[in-house]
Amino acid sequence: MCGIFGYIGPNNVVETTIKGLKKLEYRGYDSSGIAGIHDGKMLYNKQVGKISKMEAEVEQEGLELDIAIAQTRWATHGSPSRENAHPHFNNGQTLALVHNGIIENHSALRDMLLKKGVVFHSETDTEVIVHLISDLYRGDLLKAVMAALPLLKGSYALALIHRDYPDQIIGVSHESPLAVGIGIGEMFLASDLHAFTGSAREVIFLDSGEVAVVKKDGYEIYDSMMSPVSKESRELIGKAEEVTRGKFEHYTLKEIFEQPQALRSALSARCIDEYGTAKFDSLDIEMSELLGVKRIIILACGTSYYAGFIGEYMLEEIARIPTQVEISSEYRYKNPIIPNGTLVIAISQSGETADTLAAFRELKAKGATVIAICNVHDSSIAREADSCLYLRAGIEIGVCSTKAFTSQVAVISLFTLLLARMRHLSRDDGQVFLDQLKKVPDHVDAVLQQADAIQALAKKYAQCENFFYLGRRYMYPGAMEGALKLKEIAYINANGYPAGEMKHGPIALINQDCPTVALTGDQYTYEKILSNLMEVKARQGPVIAIAEEGSEGIEEIADDIIWIPSTRDEFSVIPATVACQLFAYYVALERGTEIDQPRNLAKSVTVE
Ligand code: AGP
Repeated sequence: MCGIFGYIGPNNVVETTIKGLKKLEYRGYDSSGIAGIHDGKMLYNKQVGKISKMEAEVEQEGLELDIAIAQTRWATHGSPSRENAHPHFNNGQTLALVHNGIIENHSALRDMLLKKGVVFHSETDTEVIVHLISDLYRGDLLKAVMAALPLLKGSYALALIHRDYPDQIIGVSHESPLAVGIGIGEMFLASDLHAFTGSAREVIFLDSGEVAVVKKDGYEIYDSMMSPVSKESRELIGKAEEVTRGKFEHYTLKEIFEQPQALRSALSARCIDEYGTAKFDSLDIEMSELLGVKRIIILACGTSYYAGFIGEYMLEEIARIPTQVEISSEYRYKNPIIPNGTLVIAISQSGETADTLAAFRELKAKGATVIAICNVHDSSIAREADSCLYLRAGIEIGVCSTKAFTSQVAVISLFTLLLARMRHLSRDDGQVFLDQLKKVPDHVDAVLQQADAIQALAKKYAQCENFFYLGRRYMYPGAMEGALKLKEIAYINANGYPAGEMKHGPIALINQDCPTVALTGDQYTYEKILSNLMEVKARQGPVIAIAEEGSEGIEEIADDIIWIPSTRDEFSVIPATVACQLFAYYVALERGTEIDQPRNLAKSVTVE
């Protein structure tokens, strides 16, 4: 999940490298470091904390470099400390290396290197790579790298420099993305192309197993047998998207408020009102194949998994296609049976989630067609899928996903409609579905207008240390998503549960200090959840309901209510989760936690 960056070119190397690295900070932010060569010397700086801390240090000491590599870290092996921060060096400090990924056989390699007299300075898995390459170095750096790679087990993107080669950076990709950015007389390396905005003009993605040797005015790419590979570069389209917080205190709040617009853009030009159906220009799959879909598997993690969960309900109920949503990290270690007619949908905001990528590669290898639902253009998942349905939500900076989630649900809704209309769903029913879906952005607006009232409610409950979030049917994944928001940004223990399960155990935890946030918008099960909430009340548990306007009976049970507009069960989860996002945000604000970059998290989870 770490971000790596490298630069060689005529511009201020330290400034350019740190600027690029900052664009990767969403990948991890517990420590950072930069190393480079200047006047034949290897120089570096590493700091614990955000990149800005390292930047300030570097500025103060007046660091000058002619070539640089840098990394922003999300700790896997060893705590966030200066010693564990990248870059790592060989014992002579002639070789420096940054890494994203995990080396699974690091212990065995460390033992082997220790026996050879190598001195280790960190607890990281990464350090073995630099010592290994150094050990194999006989004057030809590329050969040493090539000899080391087969000995490494795991996933890795690497960038490395050597004092003997002051004019080149070597980049390696193995099951972890690495892109080469091409400018005029300057070259870049980065974990993803987002880091190139405003700098490189063209990009090349390394395939797994490839090695790039990058110089100021050119590059060479090799496969694992060290044979040169010829690859086409692609133009980087779009201007640098300089995103600011505007009038908002946090990106997360800004992104919560952007949802009506993000939803409109997810739906834009994809609704065919006349026929009550949907279309996706980017859906490059024959209609006959879509018609032949007999089973759907949805793969995702975290928030995207909850969006997929809503998709599971929708695709079965409306398109009548057996659908199963799976947590990618578990699914990748199953040996599933994939009969003909299986369609795989991989949902990922970032498009870089390692578990989702690995799970879908496995299914692709088994012959399944894969559709991605992603926000980030040209991300690994978007590129490797047969087709990608983009969210068009705009860049999401807050680590806690908000607008991407609601846009994912909107895109899945449209895709469900498309499949349903190709089957049994009538035009009239399709038109009603579309009509309601198009009103969702306004429903979200109505929730956002209650921000002050939700903030007051958040203040009332901010000191509680345990919460339940309950829902039934479509509101069950909504409840899990609501609970995840509170965990992520307010650091509060919150359990998302299907309301009917409470009596099977968790109700033992209910008392006057443990509030329950109840998402009651699913009308099909409304009476049922009221009974479940009565059971909570009977045990003195405070109830905060997120209820549809006009719902009867909830006022007698709930201590507090956030009213949301009434809509179809499938869509009610969108305004309900927006209410949960605001509630979590204001609780976090009250508790003074880090909201945009919460502790221990990263926006893009590129390790297992
Ligand atoms: C959401 O708030 C989380 N930060 C996290 O659960 C995230 O949804 C998950 O890591 C999956 O990411 P992806 O959508 O980029 O694949």
